[in-house]
Amino acid sequence: MSDKLRIGIIGLGFIGTQKHLVALAQHKDRAEVVAFCDFDIERAEAGKAQWGNDAAYTTTDYMDVVRDPDIDVVHVCTWNANHCEITCAALEAGKHVMVEKPMAVTAEDARKMRDTAKRVGKKLTVGFQYRQREEYQWLKKLADEGKFGEIYAAKAHATRRRGVPIWGVFTDKSKQGGGPLIDLGGYSIDVALWLMNNYEVASVAGVVNYKLGDKPAGNIGGEWDPATYEVEDSAFGFVTFKNGASLFVEASWALNLKAAREGCITIHGTEAGAETVQDPGGSANLVVDVNLIEGGKQVNTSFGEGGAYFSAGGVGGAQNGFAYMGGLEAGLWIDAILNDTDPYVTADQAVVVTEILDGIYKSAEQGGKPVYFD
Ligand SMILES: NC(=O)c1ccc[n+]([C@@H]2O[C@H](COP(=O)([O-])OP(=O)(O)OC[C@H]3O[C@@H](n4cnc5c(N)ncnc54)[C@H](O)[C@@H]3O)[C@@H](O)[C@H]2O)c1
Repeated sequence: MSDKLRIGIIGLGFIGTQKHLVALAQHKDRAEVVAFCDFDIERAEAGKAQWGNDAAYTTTDYMDVVRDPDIDVVHVCTWNANHCEITCAALEAGKHVMVEKPMAVTAEDARKMRDTAKRVGKKLTVGFQYRQREEYQWLKKLADEGKFGEIYAAKAHATRRRGVPIWGVFTDKSKQGGGPLIDLGGYSIDVALWLMNNYEVASVAGVVNYKLGDKPAGNIGGEWDPATYEVEDSAFGFVTFKNGASLFVEASWALNLKAAREGCITIHGTEAGAETVQDPGGSANLVVDVNLIEGGKQVNTSFGEGGAYFSAGGVGGAQNGFAYMGGLEAGLWIDAILNDTDPYVTADQAVVVTEILDGIYKSAEQGGKPVYFD
């Protein structure tokens, strides 16, 4: 390994450019992107022109990156359906891999990826950057300090009122594996499990709805094409854990509701609870409230308001964007590789998130009957 990690990025669409390249540019002293790969060579060239050094190259064939003996790390930022294939090929070739969320389209694929990483002794992580939000770092600190007591119930909210992505292949089931559940559900489930510190799932039940795919009016960013809309528009799930805890999941791109609640969670503990909602003012921040009984009274404390739970640094809209969350995520990933420690988001944790997503789809296919885990 040279003095800097040499990274190849596969997939230079929205997230490859808006998060990974921007994030890695913050760690130029420890990592450099030397290979830019996309089916669409113009995207690869644009990435290289903006972020590559003189030695960087472009390709349309991901195997060029996988086979390159000078590459240490591969970031997989392609459509969901090829995450498993590319990740496993890169791991087998001796690379560490960061793969975008969702880890994979099926639980079987996710387990294959994790098991391959373990077998070849390389690191694997998944791009759940929401954990890096200041608001969630603060809640995690409180959870780890025991401020919530036992967190025995939680909710993962991933709802948009009309927010179907109209770029890329998001509504193509064969390339994405599903709609809002697989696309948005994972962030919130990941944060909820991490705060609960509970990865022992007992059962998953759920439904998925195909009700609004032909009603594109009012969509943020423009109407989608109903003729090519193949995925669910909302999904609901209920997860039980081996210790009796539970998790409700809701995800939508299109659902008749007042306020969207994307990337949000609710947790209920024996000592306190917490909930996050999107800022009604429209900033990128989440509004976070912790609720507890103190001195015989019902008390609510908001993050950023000051007082006992105030986190130094405050909340800044720009800070919680991709550059901020992605920059921290990339820094921790580079630390894990260079220091040979577990990644911040482990493959084992991400497998459980995928098992829950997969479980909701499977349960829905069997009319809502629960899927039981060993
Ligand atoms: N972490 C996040 O916040 C976040 C946000 C958006 C998307 N994502 C995830 O990132 C992934 C990509 O989403 P996007 O919005 O960037 O999509 P996109 O369509 O904008 O970009 C995907 C790119 O991958 C390329 N590609 C696909 N398969 C390829 C292959 N085999 N070889 C080379 N190039 C290939 C496509 O040509 C395209 O340019 C998805 O899995 C999505 O779920 C994560």
